[in-house]
Amino acid sequence: MSTSTPTDVDLAQIDLFDMQWHRDGPPHDLFARMRAEAPVRWNPLADGTGCWSVTRHADVSAISRDTATYSSYRAGIFLHPDQVVGLDLTRNLLLYMDPPQHTKYRMILQKAFTPHTVAALEDDIRARVTTTLDRIATDGSADFVNDIAIPIPLGVLTELMGVPEEDIAQFFHWTEEIEAAQRAPEPNAAAEVFVQMAGYLHGQIERQVSEGIEDSLVMKLRAAEVEGEKLTDPEILVFFGLLAFAGNDTTRNTLATGMHTLLQHPDQLQELVADPSLIPGAVEEILRYTSVVQWFNRTATTDTELGGQRIKEGDRVVMWYTSASRDEEVFDDPQTFDIHRAKPDHKAFGGGGRHFCLGAGLARAELRIALEEITRRLRNLELSGEIERLPSHWANGLVKMPVTFTPEA
Ligand code: HEM
Repeated sequence: MSTSTPTDVDLAQIDLFDMQWHRDGPPHDLFARMRAEAPVRWNPLADGTGCWSVTRHADVSAISRDTATYSSYRAGIFLHPDQVVGLDLTRNLLLYMDPPQHTKYRMILQKAFTPHTVAALEDDIRARVTTTLDRIATDGSADFVNDIAIPIPLGVLTELMGVPEEDIAQFFHWTEEIEAAQRAPEPNAAAEVFVQMAGYLHGQIERQVSEGIEDSLVMKLRAAEVEGEKLTDPEILVFFGLLAFAGNDTTRNTLATGMHTLLQHPDQLQELVADPSLIPGAVEEILRYTSVVQWFNRTATTDTELGGQRIKEGDRVVMWYTSASRDEEVFDDPQTFDIHRAKPDHKAFGGGGRHFCLGAGLARAELRIALEEITRRLRNLELSGEIERLPSHWANGLVKMPVTFTPEA
């Protein structure tokens, strides 16, 4: 838990987006007070405006399921409509759409992103994890973030998109710039990166089409059809841009903060080493406990009421998934990490409803396989220095985590 939160602070004055609350990780004790005392609360912002901050599980679910009242399209899903890149561009991304546009695109994309697709990727994911671990396994030490948590999801994603191995470093550079733009003070900070990445991905799609590469995601997306509607190549390009944002850092941050949590609970890590059948359950608890996407925004399309508060049309409403995943109304002893928790109904993949994470199955598979191989191969894994946190109120992540382990012979 964060140590910097006074229990007697006036909740009405608190700006949850002020980095002082996030230096030691998500401010879980502050969230607990908000859930109890002010679950739907007006949050004053540094620029003189404000937004509603919503911290309870039930309210986060209700907002997520009511896309007519709470729009993703109207002003986007961040606090500034043009955060990362301009709203005119981001509105082409699934995350920024409302029904009926969202329904149509989601159905087409879902056709190419089925549980069957994920199951077929199992061997590729394990191969990617294996080569990643091979690079450090005999060393006896590593930076878990740079050496393990970054390359695994990045490798899986680039493989899925058909990006050649030699271009991964360039692709990594772009995703880092997009991530940094999310934290940039000025809007539209990633516009130039998006143009470059789009040009590159366009070339990749053309190449895969001309080479007729069977069974690639590009081909599946080109073939997917709903009520006679198909995606155009520019729409596939936009979807790839979304994947670079939605499927990369999220998985990396969950793997890094999840392993950090396990290292802080060595008895539970030891249980996973002894009995890998516990790993799928541990993945769900890691997702709940770390909930690395801390929040997304919606905009009220009409005057409404939530948790006894009157929300006005045009108000921004931020859902704190991190808080919802530790709501004592839903979870017993929510601040305790427990890999034996039965199917926790966490909000790490969003509040449910139409925008529920499209990559949840893939992310779960990546995390499970990574933990299976890590616990099998990196024996006596321990923290060997200070961790460094990502300076963000949106992403709960690490930039550094030195570890040691018994070198493989
Ligand atoms: C542990 C890793 C991940 C986490 C924590 C995560 C979290 C989220 C969250 C919170 C949302 C928004 C849900 C909402 O608004 O209700 C979302 C949406 C989405 N995610 Fe993930 N995600 C992860 C991995 C992935 C992966 C691996 C992919 C694909 C490769 C992916 C693709 C997407 C897409 C396409 C959406 C938009 C869905 C829509 O708007 O309909 N995510 N994710």
